[in-house]
Amino acid sequence: MEPRAGTALLTDREHVAERLLEASAKHSYDPDTELDWDAPLEPGLWFLPERMVSLYGTPIWNRMSEERRIELSRHESASLASAGVWFEIILIQLLARHIYDLDPRSSHVAYALTEMADECRHSRMFARMVTKLETPYYRPGGTTRFLGRVLKTTATTPGAFTATLLVEEILDRIQRQTFPDGTVQPLIRGITRIHVVEEARHVRYAREELRRQMASCPAWERQLTRTVSGEASVVVARALVNPAVYAAVGLDVNEALLQARRSEHRRETMRWSAERLTSFLEEIGVIRSRLDRAAWRRSGLLL
Ligand SMILES: [Fe+2]
Ligand SMILES: [Fe+2]
Repeated sequence: MEPRAGTALLTDREHVAERLLEASAKHSYDPDTELDWDAPLEPGLWFLPERMVSLYGTPIWNRMSEERRIELSRHESASLASAGVWFEIILIQLLARHIYDLDPRSSHVAYALTEMADECRHSRMFARMVTKLETPYYRPGGTTRFLGRVLKTTATTPGAFTATLLVEEILDRIQRQTFPDGTVQPLIRGITRIHVVEEARHVRYAREELRRQMASCPAWERQLTRTVSGEASVVVARALVNPAVYAAVGLDVNEALLQARRSEHRRETMRWSAERLTSFLEEIGVIRSRLDRAAWRRSGLLL
């Protein structure tokens, strides 16, 4: 949808898109040829930085052997990648809906199409990663998938870009800790490096568009965006670690969920993963009232 406040916003939108198209031309990657998929996984290396594993520092964790902790990191990393594919497919549809009525000759649309191509490669990369890790495909549960289906079909433009940022900024923060970490498998480091480089552009595009949309959309749409994004934060935060990962390494699922929920380190990690996003959403008025904050608190992403 076009921002409603006239040509200044449209000019700004084109300038942002032109810069992003230039950056895409310089730094885009084909994961199939860029990464060594045939190299064997290295024994003793993690699949996520240790402190990012959901049970890190809990009583269960303290009883687990190093080998079992690494095994849990393998399943949690696969769970993140599985949720990643689900998110990517939603984002592709949201972008397709966003440009449906716009002029395809504009740089804004050209960039959206470029981003969709990035997300197609990322979806294949994450799916291939789950195959390589030889874990189950941890797709989100039925209720979560249903809510995703409603969101991707009905979201208005500012709602769509808030959902986009919600996913992209949280994954980005985790991945920025992962790719430089020498204790992590080289393949995972390579995957997260590619994703971080390409997502930086996506975050910029979504932030700039959301800022414009929130400044120009009608009041009812701003309010709807606040309500929907609070609920979406709860769904996304829950989708990151599929509870089946605990069963896969022989843990009691309910006990593991309880300990992860009670873990101060875990709560801190979740809040840290979203702090850049939540402060931006506060700045542009997506998180404003006590009611908005209550939903974000339920998600564990806001203090
Ligand atoms: Fe992506
Ligand atoms: Fe993205």
